[in-house]
Amino acid sequence: MQVTGKILEVRKIISSARAEGKRIGFVPTMGALHEGHLSLIKAAGADCDFVAVSIFVNPIQFVPGEDYEQYPRPIEDDIEKSRRAGVSLLFNPSVDEMYPQEQLTRVYVKKLTENLCGRFREGHFEGVTTVVTKLFNIVQPDISYFGQKDAQQALVIKRMVADLNMPIEIKIRPTIRERDGLAMSSRNQYLNEAQRKQACCLYQALCDAREMIRSGEKKSEHIIKRMSDIIKNAGPCEIDYISIVDTETIEDVEQINKPVLIALAVKIGPARLIDNVIVDSNGNDVIIT
Ligand code: PAJ
Repeated sequence: MQVTGKILEVRKIISSARAEGKRIGFVPTMGALHEGHLSLIKAAGADCDFVAVSIFVNPIQFVPGEDYEQYPRPIEDDIEKSRRAGVSLLFNPSVDEMYPQEQLTRVYVKKLTENLCGRFREGHFEGVTTVVTKLFNIVQPDISYFGQKDAQQALVIKRMVADLNMPIEIKIRPTIRERDGLAMSSRNQYLNEAQRKQACCLYQALCDAREMIRSGEKKSEHIIKRMSDIIKNAGPCEIDYISIVDTETIEDVEQINKPVLIALAVKIGPARLIDNVIVDSNGNDVIIT
């Protein structure tokens, strides 16, 4: 595995891999790698001959007051996990390498970024689409992998790639969970023992919502009320949103008659956690790819 923080070095390594006719898979991350990230790396390894991973805690996607400084950066661990996962190239640039001068250019996807996390993290998605565009231009992968855990992000990136004719295939992979259902996240480390126990209420609420739809409930309002009760009863928290939205437009739906993304963001102690499920109008899981 080659490890570098330099863009020029990445370009050299990638062009020689290409010269050997290799297909390049790419997994962008912010590090503190867990099984969720590793599942994307594994999927890349199954499709491609060369797997590049980036680890970059991207300052421009954090809103002031968020956890940019505290975000975990266990780089030695991450290098070891990447090596064991069969990664070919690990790119871990500094902030100066990625943003050497004032950046006058931004990539912004309209509409899909306005609801859900976009309502609570102003400028967040613009930070994500801008850095992912830069990373795509640096790595120039054939295929890039994203987790359904961040469903809105994955859909926004898919749309950006389509709208801007980027010659990259985007693949979305399922959410990897802990045994009690909590979606794996680098931010779960912020939870103390009691908060960690409490946090499984998020997936319980999502499963309950799915059950309600299976039993014939079609009104989003009723489902959201019940989810909110489950989450509030589990312990102290601050709910940013619990929403049921159209999987194509990310707009709220009142009546469930096509596939919907049921998504939530809840602060438990110091951690802002997000999770989601995607189901059709009968409550069957929908796999987005
Ligand atoms: P990060 O939160 O590190 O996530 C990197 C990728 O791993 C994302 O595509 C995310 O959806 C996926 N992922 C995280 N937890 C997962 C889980 N439990 N199961 C499956 N996949 C999971 O998302 C980012 O970084 C950044 O916004 C980034 C795209 C790198 C841009 O800075």
